[in-house]
Amino acid sequence: MTAPSVLDSFDIEGVDFAFEDNPNIHTVLEDLRAKKPYAVVPFAGVRAVLLLTHELVTAAFKDEDTFPASAIYPMTTGPVLGKTLQCMAGDEHRKNRSLISPPFRRKVIAEYITPLLEPLAHELIDRFADRGSVDLVAEFTTRYPVLLISRLIGLPVTDEAQVHKWAHDLFYFPFDPEAAMRASQEFTDLLTPILAERRRNPGDDLISTLVTETLHDDGLEGATLSDEEVLSFLRLLFPAGADTTMLALGNTLSALLTHPDQMEILRSDLEEHALWAVWEGLRWEPPVGLLPRACPEATTWNGIEIPALTPMIFSVNAAHRDPAQWPDPHRFDITRRKTAMLSFGQGPHSCAGNWLALAELETALTALLERLPGLRLQDGAAERAKVTSQVGVALRGPNELAVQWDR
Ligand code: HEM
Repeated sequence: MTAPSVLDSFDIEGVDFAFEDNPNIHTVLEDLRAKKPYAVVPFAGVRAVLLLTHELVTAAFKDEDTFPASAIYPMTTGPVLGKTLQCMAGDEHRKNRSLISPPFRRKVIAEYITPLLEPLAHELIDRFADRGSVDLVAEFTTRYPVLLISRLIGLPVTDEAQVHKWAHDLFYFPFDPEAAMRASQEFTDLLTPILAERRRNPGDDLISTLVTETLHDDGLEGATLSDEEVLSFLRLLFPAGADTTMLALGNTLSALLTHPDQMEILRSDLEEHALWAVWEGLRWEPPVGLLPRACPEATTWNGIEIPALTPMIFSVNAAHRDPAQWPDPHRFDITRRKTAMLSFGQGPHSCAGNWLALAELETALTALLERLPGLRLQDGAAERAKVTSQVGVALRGPNELAVQWDR
């Protein structure tokens, strides 16, 4: 068979899937999927393949040979974050992934909840609880995951605003690369002497674990992480760990606040429903909604003819509303008892922090509902509380959640 050299003609025009927000994205995706399981769409001025079904998106995530993460991340995040896990492949990825994973296992994360996650959530709520109203995006969702990462790493930063500025500048890299490079450098300068110190005198903190861990796996016995490998992982925690969780929390709160019947169900038994509300929020509006990848070699994949160097878009948000997988998919329903695992990707590069993310989200949601009785949107705030694109189309979250509660 000859290798495909040209992609089919566009299935949709007049939109760009790299940059333009589309307020009706779910309708657009549903209409495209009704025609076929994938679509050829404009992406930064060229043709890209957008995968639309649960089956195709799952298969694509798992197929590292055809759509390697290392074909895209060195170009998109590499200049600022360095050679992170997402840029790696093969044994190098396996080694790094095995060495960073132990502190993020489910059992270890469970031990962070009482000493770290709950006190941080309550500390932030204390700052506004007596006011009766607040914008939860400005004062909670943007702060909690960033401060958590900062405390987890044990950053010796007394200036909270500094950490928020780094997180912000790294997030907005595509708009202001210089500020992002500066943030990356400042963060590296702060951490480099700490790494050296922890190598000399390790404690039981995250950095000490990362610098002292040794592998005992088949074929990789004795492998350890270099300083640059540890640093690139720690830099990655801001965009991969904090920004995603910030958006996920915003999306779940947005869904609950705009569906008061579901908020009631949640309130009726927080312990029973909180984690399921988190999963349903992740399904309904996954923060990583349209994940860009690439197909370096020409191929015919699941019947799709893909020329070399074609940009791919894994539409997690279309997969999560695929009626073949989710009955009545547009309904936000926290009583579904099913996990939306595509939110965290699949396959070798799937999220290394999913247990931490779930614990953070459940803890924050529980604390907010316990502390702010009758939590609801302020009058006229519903439009601004809707989920929208953030930094290009890939990421999604609300810009504002103006709420009030009973005092
Ligand atoms: C709700 C919050 C989160 C969501 C939705 C999320 C989503 C994802 C997704 C979709 C990927 C795969 C990207 C790809 O295949 O290209 C990923 C990778 C990753 N995530 Fe998360 N993430 C979240 C929270 C976290 C947290 C809290 C951490 C902190 C440890 C984290 C660390 C990572 C890392 C290190 C990777 C790269 C893994 C690799 O390439 O091997 N994430 N995440």
